[in-house]
Amino acid sequence: MRIDLMAGASLSAAALRSAAEPTILVFDSGLGGLTVLDAVRRARPDARYIYVGDDAAFPYGRLGEAALVARVLTVMERLVATHRPDLVVIACNTASTLVLPALRQRFTTPFVGVVPPIKPAAEATRSRLVSLLATPGTVARSYTRDLIATYAGACTVTLVGSRNLAGYAEAELAGVPVDDVALAAEIAPCFVTEADGRRTDVVCLACTHYPLLLPRLERLAPWPVAWIDPAPAIARRVVQLIGPVPREADQPGSTHGAFTSGTCLTDPLRTALAARGIGEVAIEAIPLPLQ
Ligand code: DGL
Repeated sequence: MRIDLMAGASLSAAALRSAAEPTILVFDSGLGGLTVLDAVRRARPDARYIYVGDDAAFPYGRLGEAALVARVLTVMERLVATHRPDLVVIACNTASTLVLPALRQRFTTPFVGVVPPIKPAAEATRSRLVSLLATPGTVARSYTRDLIATYAGACTVTLVGSRNLAGYAEAELAGVPVDDVALAAEIAPCFVTEADGRRTDVVCLACTHYPLLLPRLERLAPWPVAWIDPAPAIARRVVQLIGPVPREADQPGSTHGAFTSGTCLTDPLRTALAARGIGEVAIEAIPLPLQ
């Protein structure tokens, strides 16, 4: 199987670089992709961004594989037709570890995926005890297992499938704080001590929602670890494909938000989105069909 870490596109980089004021669509099941949007926007502040959260289907972690592939293809069909992006970032590990081949087959638009940062984790660890914190879907993927076999053969990787953490991150941004005990319980299995005294020193944040909670995770960790967030690497991959800010660019870009149901849009969330430069938020209703 092809392991393609910041899975780029088959389209030639030179063709993409010619796109002035590129339109970049950043997509997630909900709000987690905001962590990737922030990093990409720092790298290409001149671009035009559309952030889409498929909140009608959140959380993706609970969907079966066939249902998730079908859902992402359906939503992307609409989004690509409406927004005509130059590049799409699938800012969701749960989707990227499964759906990228089908997306690349269906669309000519280049897709950049976010997949668990196993390689940098294996390079960073000293104790060789690494934990991968992700949704149950990402943990179960053969793609994830293949990444571990390819890049972390010398490490013991503890897979932690969290049922609630993505929802907690959504709740926090929507103005409903989650208590420390609940958060600590979600991350506790990441912290492993071996009989020889070695303990986990690196945790992969393999769900884009989790960096939204990072300051609290750091505070609640039983001991300090390196938390690996793949977002900066994704931003570098996007720049590789579309090029750096052109010298002639003198206008800041723009960011628009859209959600497929909008039920997540509380006032505190609108305020949080505005603070991230997403003042304008639309509903592009794409209901989840009953399974
Ligand atoms: N943000 C998504 C990810 O990176 C997952 C959240 C969900 O379960 O929808 O995996």
